[in-house]
Amino acid sequence: MLGLGYVGLPAAALLAEAGHAVRGVEADASRRAAIAEGRFFADDEGLRAILRRVPLELAAEPGPAEVHVIAVPTPLREDRTPELRFVQAAAESLLAVLSPGDLVLLESTVPVGATAALAAALPGAEVAHAPERVLPGNILAELRRNPRIVGGVTPRAAARARAFYESFVEGEVTETDAASAEMAKLVENSFRDVNIGFANEVALLAARHGLDAHHVIGLANRHPRVSVLRPGPGVGGHCIALDPWFLAHGAGDAARLIPAARAVDAATRAHWLEAASALCAAGMGVSCLGLAYKADVADLRESPALWIAGELTRRHPGQVRCVEPMLERLPDGLLASTLDAALAGADALLLLVDHAPFRAVPPEARRGKVVLDPRGAWRDA
Ligand SMILES: NC(=O)c1ccc[n+]([C@@H]2O[C@H](COP(=O)([O-])OP(=O)(O)OC[C@H]3O[C@@H](n4cnc5c(N)ncnc54)[C@H](O)[C@@H]3O)[C@@H](O)[C@H]2O)c1
Repeated sequence: MLGLGYVGLPAAALLAEAGHAVRGVEADASRRAAIAEGRFFADDEGLRAILRRVPLELAAEPGPAEVHVIAVPTPLREDRTPELRFVQAAAESLLAVLSPGDLVLLESTVPVGATAALAAALPGAEVAHAPERVLPGNILAELRRNPRIVGGVTPRAAARARAFYESFVEGEVTETDAASAEMAKLVENSFRDVNIGFANEVALLAARHGLDAHHVIGLANRHPRVSVLRPGPGVGGHCIALDPWFLAHGAGDAARLIPAARAVDAATRAHWLEAASALCAAGMGVSCLGLAYKADVADLRESPALWIAGELTRRHPGQVRCVEPMLERLPDGLLASTLDAALAGADALLLLVDHAPFRAVPPEARRGKVVLDPRGAWRDA
């Protein structure tokens, strides 16, 4: 397993638990040390328990194996093009140990065509794309149970990939070609992004009419074939906010909705920033509740809450405090507060993330305060 991050480490643990001999290859020495000491993700007691029972062999370089799984990062560059250098580096490190007929599985999210390019760089290997669908916060269960698709550069690679995943996951495994698997993965996250973008656009439009977007959406959803998603302060996380650009990459005018959804996301973040900023400009102290990209996780990647809180702090230094019960320490530059102190002292509350402790705040505890609630988490209470 090349890359022991959010995806690779739990997958390696499940493989080892299923009886495979697994070498966990991690380029970052500090991450290897953390894994060896049982320190990785805040919320993964289940993973820790598996790794206590079946410890992983940790290494900096790959070794000989029948199956090589690549789960390295595929970030987005500043210019919104996919950065594939980690996949390329992983492929180069495999060249030294690869035997003819070895199966190479690319789990990293990639633009269409990248798996075929990987196969061209690894002569003699059978290559397939096996995209991940895990949800941060529930990764082990999702790895075990989610249906998955395996796209072979050749039909034989797809069949071997399927047999491999069926050896350790319970979900149904569907075979296809590599490019279809690549595109399907990108379509999944783009679908989520466009639909959340629609809900957020509805919220922006409702605000112009002075209406409660959550009420309007609740009414519209009484139609039997309508299911508008819940608005919020924007889309975050490692996948949904980035993968749409992989799909739109190089498509020119053929991709219209996808960039539009991304633009709605920027407008949504700006809307809530301006709303909170107006309160600060009126002299109020604002407490931002939550910095993570979604409820009940400690993950800050691409988080709209973190962006809004950071910009608000930069504009109004000293007037903004942040409460994030999922983190022991806040990112630099943000002023920390506890929930109790925010409820006692802040003039205004900006509920950016509906973490469980925030959902549990009773209406009387926030009485008399100005409340901004992009997700509508407090409107029913
Ligand atoms: N995190 C998720 O929820 C999720 C879900 C679906 C798909 N994905 C995709 O899976 C891939 C991995 O994501 P992640 O969240 O696990 O990333 P991550 O950053 O948590 O982990 C990747 C790891 O790979 C290591 N690495 C980089 N180059 C390496 C190399 N050449 N050899 C060995 N190790 C190397 C890094 O040091 C890092 O520890 C990405 O393409 C991502 O888009 C992630």
